[in-house]
Amino acid sequence: MDQHPDLNTPQSQFFSPKVELNPSTLLAPVPVVLVSCCGLPGEGCDQANLITVAWAGTVNSEPPMVSVSIRPSRYSHTQISQSREFVINLVDEKLLQATDFCGVKSGRDLDKFSACKLSAVKASQMNHAPAVAQSPLTLSCQVEQILPLGSHDLFLARVAAVEVNPSLLDADNRLRLDKAGLVAYAHGNYYSLGKLLGFFGYSVARPQVLAKRMPPAKKKTAPKAKKGKSRST
Ligand SMILES: Cc1cc2nc3c(=O)[nH]c(=O)nc-3n(C[C@H](O)[C@H](O)[C@H](O)COP(=O)(O)O)c2cc1C
Repeated sequence: MDQHPDLNTPQSQFFSPKVELNPSTLLAPVPVVLVSCCGLPGEGCDQANLITVAWAGTVNSEPPMVSVSIRPSRYSHTQISQSREFVINLVDEKLLQATDFCGVKSGRDLDKFSACKLSAVKASQMNHAPAVAQSPLTLSCQVEQILPLGSHDLFLARVAAVEVNPSLLDADNRLRLDKAGLVAYAHGNYYSLGKLLGFFGYSVARPQVLAKRMPPAKKKTAPKAKKGKSRST
């Protein structure tokens, strides 16, 4: 197959060469989530806790599986290792301050639910880990494997249930996650998601589909001319 002519042109004709940095976890943006958990009764850490996690990911579709990476030193690590379950609570802008707080304080020292005025509620399919009532959408997760990677242990988990705030379902019961005001994390900073740029497959979508799914770009209106004498140039 013939190559597109652009592919034969050295990149340096279009872009300045990159500077190489030390290898690091600069994948961005990533989600930032509140993970709720609880240890087993009688094992010394059976109070509901929250940990902020940015190293979270989707790893499989069928069955639905996700992962979270947590340092062994975290209190929540002990709790999740005991109960082998946790809940991922998606974070919207209203939950962001609590999310940051839960990422700098340990459940060893305080009750983060009460410190952040968050409500721990029963999570579907979970025996120990609660969900955060204020989160727009929660994923109940059952741990299948714990993989020690070095600094962090990866908890590989099956999603056993998803619960959503009914306000995010439209009249046809379709999920409108775009209305949730979710937050992203990139290189130490939190961001709102900003404007819609496209959708899955938009690059090949028919014009009718594009017209339906993409809001028309706002036209720039020319500033109104001031009344009075116009200056000629
Ligand atoms: C934005 C942000 C992201 C974080 N991501 C992770 C993470 O992915 N894994 C982890 O082990 N700790 C992460 N932390 C740190 C923990 O949330 C933090 O150490 C917390 O206090 C642990 O609570 P715990 O001791 O109650 O488990 C993150 C902190 C912040 C602020």
